[in-house]
Amino acid sequence: MIEKLKTAIWFAQRPSHWRHAVALTVRKVLTDHDTPDARAKARAWAAERAVPLAQALAIVGVKGDLRPIDSALVAEGTARAARSAVAMGGAGDLDLLSNAVRLTGARRVVETGVAYGWSSLAVLDAMDRNGGGKLASVDMPYVKLGNEPFVGIVVPDRLRQGWTLIREPDRSGLEKAIAALGGQIDLCHYDSDKSWWGRAYAYPKLWNALASGGLFISDDIQDNLFFAQFAASKSLPFAVLACEGKFVGLIRKP
Ligand SMILES: C[S@@+](CC[C@H](N)C(=O)[O-])C[C@H]1O[C@@H](n2cnc3c(N)ncnc32)[C@H](O)[C@@H]1O
Repeated sequence: MIEKLKTAIWFAQRPSHWRHAVALTVRKVLTDHDTPDARAKARAWAAERAVPLAQALAIVGVKGDLRPIDSALVAEGTARAARSAVAMGGAGDLDLLSNAVRLTGARRVVETGVAYGWSSLAVLDAMDRNGGGKLASVDMPYVKLGNEPFVGIVVPDRLRQGWTLIREPDRSGLEKAIAALGGQIDLCHYDSDKSWWGRAYAYPKLWNALASGGLFISDDIQDNLFFAQFAASKSLPFAVLACEGKFVGLIRKP
């Protein structure tokens, strides 16, 4: 009861989070698609289709030789992450993001979910090496954790020039991120609200903002069947990658 009250106060103090709070409340009376059964089906679906990185990129028409992300960059990020006073969510697939940005030449990228900022680091570094670009990231801090000061900590100052960090939930933040890049993007990475309803809100917005040839990437697709259903609804080639016990999905917009 006390924790619920503290949560209510946390949201009440953040007007930009009210839309998300309402959505969480409404979700309680909607169909639950995040059941253990759905999760098991989604994991099996993803595991059956998982392929190595080179094959995944080839399936969605991204060609070229692969390079691992710069180990010195990761070491620098690891040293920076150690300065965080709060433990946050794990990293996306950095080799995937680094290669996807480099090989597609993406210059306008939106991501949801930052935490330490590993995915931001991979995208910003790859765009920098390609000659520049803009990343707009949306991140709602963990409720009551006090991690705000440490969000994006692994990103060094030298890579922050093209970076806009919107510290809001996807509901409100995503629209602002897409608008900040002029309404069209070349690549997106979804790694925030992993629930079925969270994806139902954000995936179509990201997909609609992708330019022709743009690449849609979503993390943790094994959590529920939303990615499987979304991919089927597009009737396009899609790829699934395994990454440290989880799965990432890719679809390219024609
Ligand atoms: C797994 S972490 C992101 C990891 C990051 N992509 C990386 O590679 O380091 C998920 C982040 O999404 C944030 N988040 C969760 N729900 C959200 C929502 N509805 N809107 C925006 N951010 C959200 C969490 O607070 C957390 O910072």
